[in-house]
Amino acid sequence: MNTMVRWLKFAPVALALLAPAAGAQEGRGDVVYVPTPQVVVDEMLRMAKVGPGDYVIDLGSGDGRIVITAAKKHGARGFGVDLDTYLLKMANETAKKEGVAERARFFEQNLFETDLKSATVITTYLLPEMNQKLRPKLLGLKPGTRVVAHDYAMGEWDPDEEKTLLVPEKTVGDPGKSYIFLWIVPARVAGRWESQLPVAGRAVSYEFNFEQIFQMVSGSARVGEREAKLPQFKMNGEQLAFSLIAPIGGAMVTHRFRGWVKGDAIEGTVTVGSEGSGQRVMPWRAKQTARGEMQMGAAGPAVAQAAP
Ligand SMILES: C[S@@+](CC[C@H](N)C(=O)[O-])C[C@H]1O[C@@H](n2cnc3c(N)ncnc32)[C@H](O)[C@@H]1O
Repeated sequence: MNTMVRWLKFAPVALALLAPAAGAQEGRGDVVYVPTPQVVVDEMLRMAKVGPGDYVIDLGSGDGRIVITAAKKHGARGFGVDLDTYLLKMANETAKKEGVAERARFFEQNLFETDLKSATVITTYLLPEMNQKLRPKLLGLKPGTRVVAHDYAMGEWDPDEEKTLLVPEKTVGDPGKSYIFLWIVPARVAGRWESQLPVAGRAVSYEFNFEQIFQMVSGSARVGEREAKLPQFKMNGEQLAFSLIAPIGGAMVTHRFRGWVKGDAIEGTVTVGSEGSGQRVMPWRAKQTARGEMQMGAAGPAVAQAAP
């Protein structure tokens, strides 16, 4: 679904979240309490592939069900923040009852002021404008961090995966349906990178100029003296993979680059040639020589690249 269509489609129904549950304190936060149905919680955690190594932070944690489920069913750790003391008390009591109080904790804190650096997974069920406000902070998290949201997207940052669940008992948002969106925080690759590869007994320079809009990357390459356009590709956290057709000894040869971004270096392999025609796999290491900026589409400013 086109991001703008999604944004327009769900912004009006966001008002339907204004239906507080009994016991919750009204008016303390930026959105009232509505619990995510358990079947949706389970799917959110499945899509984010939550496991024992994960640290889950739920922003606006309500009765704590997301972090408690992550701890109980997936062996993860984490915490939730909320401003509603009644819900926080309930969440901490449930965590205790379920035997996961050591791994699932709940604090009174404004979600916009919460330190997210320890997270490997962030979950939200917030209004679209709240997601949008959080977006620059989320994009600054460690590459590979998963962000999973119930019902509302992140404006122009397209999700890496999305799913619609039929939830007959749901009466808020789009009644009877829940939308789940998953994003994987991409590494910053925008800018110029240089590498060398041994071709026909001599070192040939391979330079790349990457442009980046969220997780989508495009750009150009220079192989020796020849320019080539790169196909658009998608980052997966710190991993990148793309193909390039470039001349070697007068023939146009396919190169498949695969690497991991580690600050100002990329380490990986390049497979040169096609199967059955003397294919070779070589180590590939690129060094960043000029930083670029991740673009955030028409709606937002560019995000400066963090120092490696
Ligand atoms: C729609 S509920 C979602 C609850 C829970 N995450 C779930 O999915 O079941 C949103 C929660 O965010 C909390 N909240 C709203 N604004 C907040 C803020 N600025 N800081 C912390 N919590 C906030 C509300 O009290 C409410 O419990």
